[in-house]
Amino acid sequence: MAGVLEAKAIRSYLDELSKTRQDYQSGGLRDPKTILCSDLTDGERFGLLAVLREAERRAEAEGRRARYLEIGVLAGGTIHFLKQNAQKTEFTGVDLFEDWQPEETNTHMSGSFRAADVQAALGDDVRLIKGAWESVAASLAEERFDVVFIDANHAYAAVRQDFELVRPLLHPGASVGFHNCSFDREPDILYVDDDGGPWKFTQELRRDSGCWMELERDRLRVFRVDETGTDR
Ligand SMILES: C[S@@+](CC[C@H](N)C(=O)[O-])C[C@H]1O[C@@H](n2cnc3c(N)ncnc32)[C@H](O)[C@@H]1O
Repeated sequence: MAGVLEAKAIRSYLDELSKTRQDYQSGGLRDPKTILCSDLTDGERFGLLAVLREAERRAEAEGRRARYLEIGVLAGGTIHFLKQNAQKTEFTGVDLFEDWQPEETNTHMSGSFRAADVQAALGDDVRLIKGAWESVAASLAEERFDVVFIDANHAYAAVRQDFELVRPLLHPGASVGFHNCSFDREPDILYVDDDGGPWKFTQELRRDSGCWMELERDRLRVFRVDETGTDR
């Protein structure tokens, strides 16, 4: 029964997200704040927030602010939620925004939001970078992040590549979250059928000696990445 209720909850927020997108694309939304929808359920967002708060405490112990990176921002709703609730963090988001083009190898199918509109909605204290993560990553080579949320192309090979490009950019013991990792929920079941998607990649990560899963909620899985294996 719980499964049915959860599935209904996911369905209704997916419907709302889809309606916001349609309104936006038909020019129906004028106030930038109204585009701030998120692709995460409440449970997933609060799970990610708890991880970020924990990262803030670790960063504070080192006398600095935490640094969060989201790969695949869409309309910015998740960053907005986290920014409101984790005030000791610097936020960066990377997305193709309006430059996104449909491709056979990219699972993301519907049109995206314009970078300038998302920037206006999130405010100037969030750094948004427009581009494909596989091209942008090199420009961040000197930076380190405490929490990274990978939520862009959900094809297995893309998720693997996204993580490989993220790994050198992590503070020791950083957290990396992946969305759409479930085996049996909408729309993840399609990614599993296709090539295994984020579910298959995160199953492999569970066997990686440098990583351990710190949180699993709905379709979200978060791993601590500690190459030395001492932080577990
Ligand atoms: C599922 S949405 C992200 C949802 C968002 N994280 C949230 O919580 O609301 C996926 C986004 O990834 C972006 N995207 C897809 N492939 C990408 C790539 N290679 N590099 C950067 N962004 C990409 C798409 O433009 C789309 O906005």
